[in-house]
Amino acid sequence: MSKILITKRVYPEAVDLLTRSFPVDYEATDAGLSTPQLIERARGCQAIVSQLTDKLGADVLAQLEGVKIIANVAVGYDNIDVPAATARGIMVTNTPGVLTETTADFAFTLLMAAARRIPEAHAFVHSGQWKTWLIDLLAGQDIHGATLGIFGFGRIGIAVARRARGFGMNILYCDAFPAAPEIESELGARLVSKDELLRSSDFVSLHVPLLPETKHLIGAAELALMKPTAVLINTARGPVVDEAALADALERRVIWSAGLDVFEQEPALHPKLLTLPNVVLAPHIASASIATRRRMSMMAAENAAAALSGQRPPNLLNPEILG
Ligand code: GLV
Repeated sequence: MSKILITKRVYPEAVDLLTRSFPVDYEATDAGLSTPQLIERARGCQAIVSQLTDKLGADVLAQLEGVKIIANVAVGYDNIDVPAATARGIMVTNTPGVLTETTADFAFTLLMAAARRIPEAHAFVHSGQWKTWLIDLLAGQDIHGATLGIFGFGRIGIAVARRARGFGMNILYCDAFPAAPEIESELGARLVSKDELLRSSDFVSLHVPLLPETKHLIGAAELALMKPTAVLINTARGPVVDEAALADALERRVIWSAGLDVFEQEPALHPKLLTLPNVVLAPHIASASIATRRRMSMMAAENAAAALSGQRPPNLLNPEILG
C-alpha cells in the first residue's frame, strides 16, 4: 500500500484524513526534517506532504526513488524544482485560492501598521514614554486617497487592490499580463511600467512569485526611484527584495518605511532591520489565520490522497506529467 511522509507538523485533520486510507510517517515536530533525514524517511513512500522550509532541489529529487507526488502546503513552490520533478515524473501540487483573502488582509495589515507606525506606538505606550498629547506625536502617512502600486496582479494582488479601493486609494499595477478589462474598471486599476509605478506610488506592495526574473525585483536602483514618503510591503518572497539595499534605504530614509513578512534567508534577517524604527517585521505569517492554515493543510492532504488513489490531484502544477 502507498505510504505518505508528512515532513513537519500540520493541522491534525489533514493527518487524520490521510491515516484513514494510507500508512503515514508523520514527523509531528516544528523542526521538521533535515534534507538527509527527509531523503532517508522518504524511502518506501509514494507521497510527500512538504512545507516551504523543505528545500527540494533537483539533487534531492534525484534521491526520492518511487515518490509520485509532492504536495506542498503553500501557494508558493519556489522550494521545489518543478521542472526537475516533471522530468522525474513526480507530480507537484500547491494550495492556491484558500489563502488569497487571508494573505491580502495581512498585506493590508502591514501597510496600515507601517503607515501609521503601530509597532512604534505600541512600544511607546508600553514603555511608559507617553506623557502628553503632542501635535506631531508618531505622525504617519495617510492611506486614504493615496496611490498603491502593486507588483504582480494575480489573485492576491487583486484582493489587495479590492481592499485599497475601500480606502479610496488609486491603484497602479505592473504585471507581465494585463488584467481583464472588467477587473481594471472595477478597481480603477492602471497597468504601468515598473518605473512609473515606483515613481508614482505612495505604497508599493509585492505579490509576484519568486522566479529568476523576480529575484531582487526591488534593489537600490528601484528604491531610489520611490518617493521619500513611500512605504514598501513584502508578503511575497524575501529574495524579491534586495534586503541589504532595503535596510540601507530605510536607514538613510530613501523611503519612509516598510512592512515585511518574508526575508531572504528565513528565519535570519539583515541585522540592520532589527535596529530600525521604520520597519514592521513579521515571521512569514501572511496566510496564518487558523481557518486558512487548516484549509491549506487539508488541501495538501487531499492532493496527496488523490494522486495515490489514481486521480488527478486538484492543484496539479505539472499536468504535462499525465500526458
Ligand atoms: C506562503 O508563503 C505560501 O506560499 O503559501
